[in-house]
Amino acid sequence: MSGIVLIGAQWGDEGKGKIVDFLAENADVIVRFQGGNNAGHTLVVKDKKIILHLIPSGILRENKVCIIGNGVVIDPGVLFKELKVLTENGLLSKSTSLYISSSAHVIMPYHKLIDTLRENIAVTKIGTTGRGIGPAYEDKVSRAGIRVADLLYPELLKEKLKTILEEKNLYITKVLGGDPFDFSTVFEESVRFGEMIKPYVADTVEHLNKYIRERKNILFEGAQGTMLDVDHGTYPFVTSSNTVAGNASIGSGVPISAINKIVGVVKAYTTRVGNGPFPTEEKSSIGDYLREKGGEYGATTGRPRRCGWIDLVSLRRAIMINGIDRIVITKLDVLNELDNIKVCVGYKYQNKEIETIPFGLNQIEVCTPVYREFKGWKKNISHIRDGIDLPVEAKDYLKFIEDYLETKIAMVSVGAERNENIVFENII
Ligand code: GDP
Ligand code: IMO
Ligand code: MG
Repeated sequence: MSGIVLIGAQWGDEGKGKIVDFLAENADVIVRFQGGNNAGHTLVVKDKKIILHLIPSGILRENKVCIIGNGVVIDPGVLFKELKVLTENGLLSKSTSLYISSSAHVIMPYHKLIDTLRENIAVTKIGTTGRGIGPAYEDKVSRAGIRVADLLYPELLKEKLKTILEEKNLYITKVLGGDPFDFSTVFEESVRFGEMIKPYVADTVEHLNKYIRERKNILFEGAQGTMLDVDHGTYPFVTSSNTVAGNASIGSGVPISAINKIVGVVKAYTTRVGNGPFPTEEKSSIGDYLREKGGEYGATTGRPRRCGWIDLVSLRRAIMINGIDRIVITKLDVLNELDNIKVCVGYKYQNKEIETIPFGLNQIEVCTPVYREFKGWKKNISHIRDGIDLPVEAKDYLKFIEDYLETKIAMVSVGAERNENIVFENII
């Protein structure tokens, strides 16, 4: 039995979806445990490109169980749109099932409006995806949330929603200057979603713990990235959930002891969407090169991603917090045409060179990167499947990362397609 948690080690969009889809071949169960449809996980199978926001990236495989755990926030409209696209493209296998936790919280229409209105008037804009993620998690913690189970009991939902909506409408109109929601419209839509979601709702905790007893291979699919974690990221420029590996247990209801491997997905360079510190950001032609070659435009919002060099200082922290024991490097092929490739090996901070993120309020903002430069390989590597065939410059680059982070690279992705990988070690 394996309980494997796969998380993003940077600011999201590391290529988690692609890697989960690849690894899912040998997994039995694939679980989302946090975040919501702020995530955009891209899968490319043959020449078909699919972007998943809520459904686990094992859904294209046969004979799998996909689970949306209690820690996820669900926008039912997005969920059903995603299911519709998959069905219309003939991508759903009858042998693969989807179960949704009855305890997962629902993103309501007022959450989305609050998210966008707040961003509009905020002095310090986070640059959220506008999907209502923060407001939905706030309501979860303040015990004013609507859960999936609530959608299944219209009479009880009516009472709950009445009280909640009254308060939300006051906040929306008086504080944020928006238009109020009509109770019947929100209620009726919620009941309709309840009917639609019912066939998928299950006690996912019982299911998962049964799979653990049956010694199945369970793959936990993280969303966002470590530097966007609400506790450990670049607060306040973070998302509203814990994105680190430890949350896989809480967000799905399995004991910590069920997890025995933690995989960190690391892009061969760095990107970030939205605002906040990003020490290795390149606002130069290098940044433009990475954006265009890497197709670095948000899978959820279409926003251009900010791009820059790989940052081993922040990655070292990600390795530590998550307990990453294997790394997957993605998008190495994007660096193919560069003469020189930089790697951030330290920060300059208060006239000193340091190798850890400095302690104190947002001190990462005042750090400038210290680089080590590598020679580029200037060759196409997307066809390579055996590490031995990599150009020596690419080997040197990977070896340096491995040594600096004191963590083994299990796999390197050299293209967006499912099978464009160099596997050094089987993860499952
Ligand atoms: P995620 O959110 O971590 O799943 O990542 P996204 O899907 O948001 O962004 C990753 C992007 O890179 C997608 O467009 C993928 O199709 C693409 N991709 C993933 N791995 C590779 C790779 O090794 N090489 C290239 N060129 N593209 C990749
Ligand atoms: P995946 O799973 C990259 C970013 C947003 C914003 C911040 C807060 O595809 O890697 P939110 O809407 O969550 O309140 O926005 O977090 N963000 C992501 N950035 N990849 C993601 O997901 C992200 N999900 C949220 O851009 O900066
Ligand atoms: Mg993404």
